[in-house]
Amino acid sequence: MITYFNEVLFREEEIQARVTEIARQVNADYEGMQPLLVCILKGAVFFMADLARQIEIPCEMDFMAVSSYGSASDSSGVVRILKDLDADITGRNVIIVEDIIDSGLTLSYLRKNLSARNPASVEVAALLTKPGRRQVDINCKYIGFEVADRFVVGYGLDFNENYRNLRFIAVLPEEELNQT
Ligand code: IMP
Ligand code: MG
Repeated sequence: MITYFNEVLFREEEIQARVTEIARQVNADYEGMQPLLVCILKGAVFFMADLARQIEIPCEMDFMAVSSYGSASDSSGVVRILKDLDADITGRNVIIVEDIIDSGLTLSYLRKNLSARNPASVEVAALLTKPGRRQVDINCKYIGFEVADRFVVGYGLDFNENYRNLRFIAVLPEEELNQT
């Protein structure tokens, strides 16, 4: 495990500023609707915590954990629900809060799964997106930042469960990526 990062893509202040902007948009778009924020564990945990605390309209929070079969850096699109929502989302305005959209396979599955439960609406807020890696089209209402096709860690994002707790987002050095 390495502890230095040569390529920091987003510093703490930049992340916080962008999250605040997204929260303002949510405040405007969902006024009077009491949206349900659905955090996809574990990667979205800090994004969810910061976003929710910047939202000023009434909202609720729920959590889902999924695992997608695949390697440490590539998802397969075969998704298993490890923890389902507590809430019944019938008639609710759901916002899926996700860390990063890579191939789009995980979110595509989640969106279909949640849409089948008769919510009033399902939208996506993703902190990061890697448009160059997309295998399926994802309609995402809120996006924090675009990143190139690099493996990134920090602010919830992990590599083999490490680095989630970094306050910034950085590129994982190639030598560590290639170790597994
Ligand atoms: P997708 O199904 O390919 O869109 O994969 C999405 C999931 O893969 C995300 O929720 C992350 O958990 C993980 N992932 C994809 N790219 C990265 C990355 O660069 N760093 C850390 N995790 C990633
Ligand atoms: Mg992950």
